[in-house]
Amino acid sequence: MKKKGIIFDLDGVIVDTAKYHYLAWKKLANELGFEFTEEQNEMFKGVSRKRCLEILLDIGQVKATQEQFDQWMVEKNEDYLAYIAQMDASEILPDVTKVLEYLKSKDVPIALGSASKNAKPILEKVGLLDYFDYLVDGNSVTKAKPDPEVFLIAAQKLGVNAEDCIVFEDAVAGIEAANNAKMTSIGIGDASVLSAADHNFKDFTEIDLGFIKNLLESR
Ligand code: BG6
Ligand code: MG
Repeated sequence: MKKKGIIFDLDGVIVDTAKYHYLAWKKLANELGFEFTEEQNEMFKGVSRKRCLEILLDIGQVKATQEQFDQWMVEKNEDYLAYIAQMDASEILPDVTKVLEYLKSKDVPIALGSASKNAKPILEKVGLLDYFDYLVDGNSVTKAKPDPEVFLIAAQKLGVNAEDCIVFEDAVAGIEAANNAKMTSIGIGDASVLSAADHNFKDFTEIDLGFIKNLLESR
């Protein structure tokens, strides 16, 4: 059997932090005098903090000096971190731990592949850090999803060929990144939005462990 590796995105796959990102961005938008909707927040999934602020300022048609831009990035992150500080294991999305346990029992190496610079403290807060053999996050990449960089670094760390990696993702840009890396992409969320994925599930409760076993055993 070929050695396989598993890569998880964080926000929206392991924990539902998209709602906290949204609240923090919305607060900033409101302070700057415009609205920011949950629908618009969809564009922010999988996208770096810097790029999110650029899109937000475009939406509000706000011009910023470099100094303001940097200050708003800090402000948004401080608001976001205040939500993160309240997180605990109850915020792990349903059946994520079941899948992690299964992978551990099969000795399958696991990496995180996330755009977030807050990945480690979040995994610590919810008590899942120990499941991960490697973390590749917003601090370790130079190119954002849909560039495959984050997942290719993860594959390298796992010691597994890219085509033998399986990626769980909730963002369009993330599925594209996995596909660009020639990995097996599994979309978690709305199948019509994530139609480019190789497989689609609404959430982990829909994933049968037999399905994962088959993926691990396929050539
Ligand atoms: C991604 C989220 O995982 O991380 C994005 O989907 C977020 O919405 C990005 O902007 C960066 O996160 P952070 O925690 O570094 O601001
Ligand atoms: Mg995500």
